[in-house]
Amino acid sequence: TKKGFIFDLDGVIVDTAKYHFLAWKKLAKRIGMDFSETQNEQLKGVSRKRSLEKILAWGNKTLSEAEFNQLMSAKNDDYLSYIEKMDDSEVLPDIAKTLDFLIGKGQAVALGSASKNAVPILKKVHLLDKFEAIVDGNDVSKAKPDPEVFLNASELLKVKPEDCIVFEDSVAGVQAANIAKMLSIGIGDKKNLHEADYVFKDFTEISEDFLNDIMSNKIN
Ligand code: BG6
Ligand code: MG
Repeated sequence: TKKGFIFDLDGVIVDTAKYHFLAWKKLAKRIGMDFSETQNEQLKGVSRKRSLEKILAWGNKTLSEAEFNQLMSAKNDDYLSYIEKMDDSEVLPDIAKTLDFLIGKGQAVALGSASKNAVPILKKVHLLDKFEAIVDGNDVSKAKPDPEVFLNASELLKVKPEDCIVFEDSVAGVQAANIAKMLSIGIGDKKNLHEADYVFKDFTEISEDFLNDIMSNKIN
């Protein structure tokens, strides 16, 4: 069967989750707050605006709209300063190989990301042309765990949600995939991603046999 393989970007395709973390940490410090790994985990997959709202709520802070917007753009400027220096070496292990394998098998491949920086990042690491469809933070109004981003991707690929597979490193993203009735594959720590149908540390642990089993409906 032709399946729709939908990849999250940050923390799945590229090692940018660490840059989001550094940028949010710096921002938190600027407004006199600490920022823990646990809090960071809750921001993965969450839009820039919603992330700042959460941070401010954790610190019991209220800001004017102007101050809020200023902090959002400061965070993004800081994040982009890391992205500028990025190259192909920050593509996570076996990603390019997996994309080529799926494309070679005639599968439909899409990006489903909350980031508004998705296209420039994919260009930077030379993976843009691998994706038949791209749905990112510029296209969706409802953030993960809302399934909008993945349902849009499924529609663009012309593959039913039940025949789509989502690779996600965030709790919110796994929940979005589950709500969309897609097969959810967590990339990262089993402890955080226990709601996923399957969890792998990274793509080096995902065998071609496993992908073949998905395509032949042995796994669904
Ligand atoms: C998600 C990241 O992919 O994109 C989040 O996991 C990030 O950490 C969100 O906040 C929005 O990204 P951007 O690049 O538009 O700020
Ligand atoms: Mg992610």
